[in-house]
Amino acid sequence: MSAPTHTAPRSSTPAPVIRRPPRVSTVTAKVVMAGTGTVFTLFVVVHLVGNLKVYLGAQHFDDYAHWLRTLLEPLVPYEGVLWVLRVVLAVSLVAHLGCGALLWRRARRARGAFRRRLLGWRTFSARTMPVTGIVLLLFLVFHILDLTTGTAPVASGAYDPGTTTTSAAYANLVASFDRPAVSAFYLLAMAVLGLHLLHGLWSVVNDLGVTGQRSRQVAVVVGGTVAGLVFLGNASIPIAVLTGLVS
Ligand code: HEM
Repeated sequence: MSAPTHTAPRSSTPAPVIRRPPRVSTVTAKVVMAGTGTVFTLFVVVHLVGNLKVYLGAQHFDDYAHWLRTLLEPLVPYEGVLWVLRVVLAVSLVAHLGCGALLWRRARRARGAFRRRLLGWRTFSARTMPVTGIVLLLFLVFHILDLTTGTAPVASGAYDPGTTTTSAAYANLVASFDRPAVSAFYLLAMAVLGLHLLHGLWSVVNDLGVTGQRSRQVAVVVGGTVAGLVFLGNASIPIAVLTGLVS
């Protein structure tokens, strides 16, 4: 005779899955996106003002590039302030990319199978944020190799690193934009930047909880104007070099 087997009674309800709260909440990620996005916008606007000095001539542009490196000297060493800005931008970039990827994944998971294709200008710029962000990241790497580090084969053969007392920023810019393919890439990148800024600035307003109808209208106008001016101002420079206006 075989011994009776004792099997544990099976429960019909599965054990509850205990989900730990995420380490970075969605609200925190959105506030980080808004904060770092604002840092980039301020940088891009100040950088535009600096870039437009190219229309004042080589001396003016090079003096400006030199001034950036000698800010607060001798209190801080050569390029000291510039390095602080570089670190702030690099940390902001890492946080922006990390939180952007996290929010994108969560939004995809939350939508599940219900992915209705929405049409319209605003949804186009919203849906393309990850793509425009990646293009901008690639542009940034190219741009730094081209005009800051002068690394071949991205930089022009004429790249001059300058010295601690002189800058060749103007000549480097002209030599780079004299290459039509490079200028075309800059123009494309500036259009992508305009699109990214357009939706990004609108998101800042949403993420910070601005709900009033009037404030939202003002935000759309301000965001559109900033994005438009950054695009037009920056895009004019490669065109000016290609047409010989800046040489
Ligand atoms: C047509 C548009 C642009 C022009 C003509 C331009 C021009 C320049 C120039 C001449 C430099 C070197 C400055 C120097 O050596 O002092 C530079 C550096 C830089 N640019 Fe731009 N830029 C443009 C667009 C942008 C955009 C859209 C971004 C950001 C998304 C950007 C980010 C930077 C950064 C991070 C540096 C390096 C600064 C450093 O670490 O020294 N630029 N740019």
